[in-house]
Amino acid sequence: MAIEKVGVVGCGLMGSGIAQVCAAAGYSTVVREVTPELVAKGLKGIEKNLARLVEKGKLTAAAQTEIRGRLKGTTAIEDLKNCDLIIEAIIERLPAKRELFSALDAMCPASTIFASNTSSLTITEIAAATKRPQRFVGLHFFNPVPVMQLVEVVRTIATDDAVYEEVVAFGAKLGKTAVRAHDSTGFIVNRLLVPYLLDAIRALEEGVGSIEDIDNSMKLGCGHPMGPLTLLDFVGLDTTYYISQIMFEEFHERRFASPPLLKRMVLAGWNGRKSGRGFYDYSDPAKPKAMKF
Ligand code: CAA
Repeated sequence: MAIEKVGVVGCGLMGSGIAQVCAAAGYSTVVREVTPELVAKGLKGIEKNLARLVEKGKLTAAAQTEIRGRLKGTTAIEDLKNCDLIIEAIIERLPAKRELFSALDAMCPASTIFASNTSSLTITEIAAATKRPQRFVGLHFFNPVPVMQLVEVVRTIATDDAVYEEVVAFGAKLGKTAVRAHDSTGFIVNRLLVPYLLDAIRALEEGVGSIEDIDNSMKLGCGHPMGPLTLLDFVGLDTTYYISQIMFEEFHERRFASPPLLKRMVLAGWNGRKSGRGFYDYSDPAKPKAMKF
């Protein structure tokens, strides 16, 4: 069965980006948030992104109207029951995800494919809340979703081959490079990225270099678009701390352990760009200033 209609649960940073790329790829897309205010906020963000693309001449006004026309916001989970594929991008907490998928499982036809955008939870454990683990995959996107070229398509030991291939093809239809990954905590990207980010904090803690010098080293020495401490602020220090805890619990390896400084910053509410302060101070967002520790 071909995927024609896509449901996205969660219209925050990741969910709105996923909904945008699905609609832009021609899929009829329903995106669900818990309150009308959050639906409106998510859709407004998408509209802003589309308008910027029109301004830059990367999208025609007609295409902008078509994409917006394919997008529907809702607070009713029942509105997703006729979707061929449902992608979940809600809070990164296992009980919340299991509860959601259990409810969706009860209302959707047996043919619907379920996908989670989790970055660190085990797909197998989320899928076990449903009676369709063979139609369950991970679809892990990267922030900012409309810009980043990758999607990790994650299979579990229970995922059906044909379902998996259909979702890999779906990832390609979104214009992404779809890489295949097994359901190992952190998949491919976070297995490699998280120890690197944590090591950058350890280097700072040990006085190897300043915030700016660590960032410039990896930007200019290795051609990364952002230095690791800037990237940590971008991803969110709370998010990274949470992912590292899950990965440490799974592997019990020091490379996944949170450095004390990260824990202290999260406890202080310095969660990076979104909270106005992390390794940099974003009082003037156009000119972030390195913090002094
Ligand atoms: N939404 C949509 N478009 C955006 C955007 C956003 N939030 N942010 C930037 N863009 C667009 C810009 O409009 C611009 O488009 P054009 O080239 O068409 O003009 C383009 O992206 C480049 O942006 P800028 O010139 O403003 O800035 P930049 O060159 O520094 O690029 C960046 C910004 C794309 C974010 C780049 O710095 C980058 O790639 N950073 C690394 C991001 C990264 O590693 N993300 C993955 C994080 S890990 C994760 O998400 C998963 C996890 O599990 C933790």
